[in-house]
Amino acid sequence: MNTTVLPDTAPAAVTTDARARSAALEEEVLRSPGRFRVLTGDRPTGRLHLGHYFGTLHNRVRLQDLGAELFVIVADYQVLTDRDVADDLPGHVEELVLDHLAIGVDPARSTIFAHSAVPALHQLMLPFLSLVSVAELNRNPTVKDEIAHSRQSAVSGLMFTYPVHQAADILFCKANLVPVGQDQLPHLEVTRTVARRFNARYGEGVFPEPEALLSHAPLLLGTDGTKMSKSRGNAVTLAASADETARLLRGAKTDSERHIAYDPVHRPEVSSLLLLAALCQGRTPEEVAAGIGSGGAAALKGTVTEAVNEHLAPIRARRAAYARDRTYLREVLREGNERARAVADATLAEVRTVMNSRY
Ligand code: TRP
Repeated sequence: MNTTVLPDTAPAAVTTDARARSAALEEEVLRSPGRFRVLTGDRPTGRLHLGHYFGTLHNRVRLQDLGAELFVIVADYQVLTDRDVADDLPGHVEELVLDHLAIGVDPARSTIFAHSAVPALHQLMLPFLSLVSVAELNRNPTVKDEIAHSRQSAVSGLMFTYPVHQAADILFCKANLVPVGQDQLPHLEVTRTVARRFNARYGEGVFPEPEALLSHAPLLLGTDGTKMSKSRGNAVTLAASADETARLLRGAKTDSERHIAYDPVHRPEVSSLLLLAALCQGRTPEEVAAGIGSGGAAALKGTVTEAVNEHLAPIRARRAAYARDRTYLREVLREGNERARAVADATLAEVRTVMNSRY
């Protein structure tokens, strides 16, 4: 068995390597998309916003449309890692499915499924847990960060072990490409370690060592100038109406300088708004700024509001249409769950065989 421990690499170094590797992977996806099975997903904790959309969501659709096979996991069990009770979990699960359908994830080609609906996936966690040490679990920087910000009074066992659970999320379908943000890199490292050690102990070639595809997440700030986040109420959601969007953006923090220029270091709030408009319009933030000139914050907000509402209009129209058809929505999820279950059952059967535990 491979007994090397997780490298204690500084996050900055990990990121540089991961960036270079992601660029190479991007090229490979363009060359032969059919080689890739992509798995990624989210915790269902609320509606997705523009930060998610430009950071990860539209990249999922792009990979699907290039011809990669896409699995989207709605990680409902993972919600339990940072809260005692999940409020309206079924509602949040449906919202996530709606967001994905609205942006163009096509259930005929891609699989959207809920974690908890796939029992065999969870069963993989047990042998996987045997392959990592407590010391390794303890070292995960993302888990440490979550513990530091946790609202729970005590740290649960799930908090330490959910990265191994996430390895099961990825390996059950033998995904080889996982588009994620930087905070998920430690979990990808756990997944690769689990795959490598499983293969070394029980049989080469059972699991691929999946690679992270880092999203080029543009740094969009919330309307209050802090990190855009569901819980801070500072984000424009995909589901928001044009009026709500206008209201939220009208209240956005800016500065008192009339001349609008793109300067992320000295004018982060103004620059984030320029970036948002630019992403919506497929222009550079400098071009957007030049169009506004000395129009001040009001003109900037007007431009951004129009850009966002125009870009999201077709997405919102699709979302509203799907939202009216709950039967279809549930059908998409039911079919996705079924497909995921078939894949997970086959993987578990294979795991049992190589572990010599078929009775
Ligand atoms: N941990 C991810 C997040 O918080 C969600 C997630 C669960 C995930 N399982 C996954 C992401 C598997 C990628 C692959 O956003």
